[in-house]
Amino acid sequence: MDQLKRQAAARALEDVRDGMQLGLGTGSTAKHFIELLGERVRAGLKVIGVPTSEATRADAERCGVPLTTLDEIDHLDLTVDGADEIDPALNLIKGGGGALLREKIVAAASDRMIVIADDTKWVPTLGRFPLPVEVIPFGLGATRRAIEKAFASCGVSGQMAVRKAKDGHVFVTDGGHWILDAQLGRIEDPARLAEALSAIPGVVEHGLFIGLASSAVLAGGGGIRVVER
Ligand code: 5RP
Repeated sequence: MDQLKRQAAARALEDVRDGMQLGLGTGSTAKHFIELLGERVRAGLKVIGVPTSEATRADAERCGVPLTTLDEIDHLDLTVDGADEIDPALNLIKGGGGALLREKIVAAASDRMIVIADDTKWVPTLGRFPLPVEVIPFGLGATRRAIEKAFASCGVSGQMAVRKAKDGHVFVTDGGHWILDAQLGRIEDPARLAEALSAIPGVVEHGLFIGLASSAVLAGGGGIRVVER
């Protein structure tokens, strides 16, 4: 599986040109991309990147990829990031690694987004992977009830749990927020659900990425498949 992730990362690297300003994703697949990009940088490629998490910042620094922020530059040419699920319209579930907020800010500031993944992430309908919803801890009970109402209005329901870190404590995002993971099973209308969740005051962001990915590079046993939107 790791080999497939690296193959997808290597294919996305072919789209990187000298001088590009890049969004750098988070997760094990994005980490392969950063390592391969670092090799190219050490060989003379000139790029600059905006990391989508503190983990990615550390990886990029270790690999020698120069970094900047969205305050210092006015746009990104390309973001390369992983995903937890990808549907045929290239809508995504992201946030399995907890970086969804910065990932979405970076993707939205980018001219193009390439999603890199092994082909097990390709699904006919989103929702088998628990949907991450990043929330403010204050007023969590009210936010939870509002999320349940939003689910019902979009014809979905399921268990929701506060994400825990490996040490058993509540997982806290880079932004200092918590994550609710919702087991929805099937999301028939992800765009409608995305809109309903975004309207809830205690919701900081959610893991539905609608219309942000330009293409997906999927690596499987049969080779690489590139899907364009
Ligand atoms: C992190 C993400 C990741 O891109 C997603 O979880 C995929 O990770 P991996 O490449 O390790 O399977 O959204 O917030």
